[in-house]
Amino acid sequence: MSLSPASSRKWVYGVFVAGLVLLSLIGFNPALLTDATSQGVSYVYDFPYAPETGLASNQLAKLKAYLPELEDIVSALRKTTMIDQPVSAEWSASIANRTLGFQKVFVLSLPTRPDKRDSISVQASLTEFDVTFVDGVVGSEIGDKALPYTMTGRVNELGCWRAHMNVLQMIVNQNIATALILEDDADWNVGLKAQLVQYARGARYLQDVEENAVTRSAYGDDWDMLWLGHCAAFTNHTDKRRFVIANDPTVEPVGHRHYLEEIPDMSTWDHPSNDVNDTRIVFRSAGGVCTAAQAVSLEGARKALYAMSMTPYNNPVDWGYQNLCNNSEAHFSCISPFPTLFGTSQPAGALNRGSDISSRDGVRPEAHSSKTAFSTRLNIERLILGADKFKSQFPWGAGEEMTYDEITRGVGHAEVLP
Ligand SMILES: *[C@@H]1O[C@H](CO)[C@@H](O)[C@H](O)[C@H]1NC(C)=O
Ligand SMILES: *[C@@H]1O[C@H](CO)[C@@H](O)[C@H](O)[C@H]1NC(C)=O
Ligand SMILES: *[C@@H]1O[C@H](CO)[C@@H](O)[C@H](O)[C@H]1NC(C)=O
Ligand SMILES: *[C@@H]1O[C@H](CO)[C@@H](O)[C@H](O)[C@H]1NC(C)=O
Repeated sequence: MSLSPASSRKWVYGVFVAGLVLLSLIGFNPALLTDATSQGVSYVYDFPYAPETGLASNQLAKLKAYLPELEDIVSALRKTTMIDQPVSAEWSASIANRTLGFQKVFVLSLPTRPDKRDSISVQASLTEFDVTFVDGVVGSEIGDKALPYTMTGRVNELGCWRAHMNVLQMIVNQNIATALILEDDADWNVGLKAQLVQYARGARYLQDVEENAVTRSAYGDDWDMLWLGHCAAFTNHTDKRRFVIANDPTVEPVGHRHYLEEIPDMSTWDHPSNDVNDTRIVFRSAGGVCTAAQAVSLEGARKALYAMSMTPYNNPVDWGYQNLCNNSEAHFSCISPFPTLFGTSQPAGALNRGSDISSRDGVRPEAHSSKTAFSTRLNIERLILGADKFKSQFPWGAGEEMTYDEITRGVGHAEVLP
């Protein structure tokens, strides 16, 4: 494996030192440079105008002559986060395609919620991928005879379960090798495609696929489910391998990670002394909770349809998947990110607009998005207007506004926990 930790910092220091040397050559006082950070994110330089600076006019003229170089240095500093992007392998190109490297992207959505279809259509279009809508199912319309033996459960959960079974059935019938299944309130970060490339590197590492090996799927060929959008994730305790994506501004601050049940132990990377905890891991998962986004392979779809419809079954759909991921005998291989890559968005307005499986009273005055820092939904206006900076929901974390390159600077490497 040629997976190596990001080492762009040395390069950054190199440029920085070169810049200081240049500045000292032209008699510029480095103390006038303020707030230069090694990340190149908040580099600000004060151009010293005479007379307050006390610079002689010939010094100033010299300095002006060097302005283009200064600009180059500054812009190089801003770009360094990209230098180390090590992915050149051909497989990564397919992730940039119109179905994110899967054969299909399905969106589960009730026909009675065209508003949600509007929203996810625009989001997907701005992220440059195509979705196929699959009608959600109203639980009360499922005949008793169509339920698996032992199935009871609330009617809305039944609808959600059946909608998932319907997509799995389509995948099996149409011989679809891999499909991403999104729920219609899914949201993701600006920069999703670049994030998925890093995620895929992680998934390939966990499947022992060489970095440049040719595989049918960019995500490797030996998985049943990629649980990409969840609200809890269990780890397979016997597999200590982690693919570690460091310095990733799309990671939510610790205090904002609202997950149910279990989440992976992040103590190797998240320390009390960290100003920002910005590490995401990819790991072999023993399942999760919530189904905002999951990729399923053809093999996975067959296994899940068998286990969750054709045999005695009585669980909400996510717990059905969870049991498969956590059952060694099912040979159902699941790979997850933490924090999650897909979250959910909640539009402004009545709270009960958000979910079609539960209802709540009250009004949300402003749209919100869970589990995404640079939410695509919340940046739609900027994306439409062609802005070059996007807004984070967590301004005190990685920074309030960032460019696409900055948002996608996280690069992964392999680690094995003791
Ligand atoms: C994207 O790549 C995948 C994997 O190679 C392929 O199955 C799919 O058809 C491609 N999508 C498009 C729209 O070309
Ligand atoms: C980083 O994570 C550690 C461990 O969870 C926590 O104690 C610390 O407060 C976090 N730092 C920030 C800035 O959130
Ligand atoms: C956990 O990982 C190990 C090693 O990769 C595998 O043998 C085992 O089946 C996995 N457990 C589950 C529940 O999938
Ligand atoms: C996963 O399976 C193990 C072993 O069968 C069991 O002890 C554990 O409770 C299960 N975890 C979950 C979250 O279902």
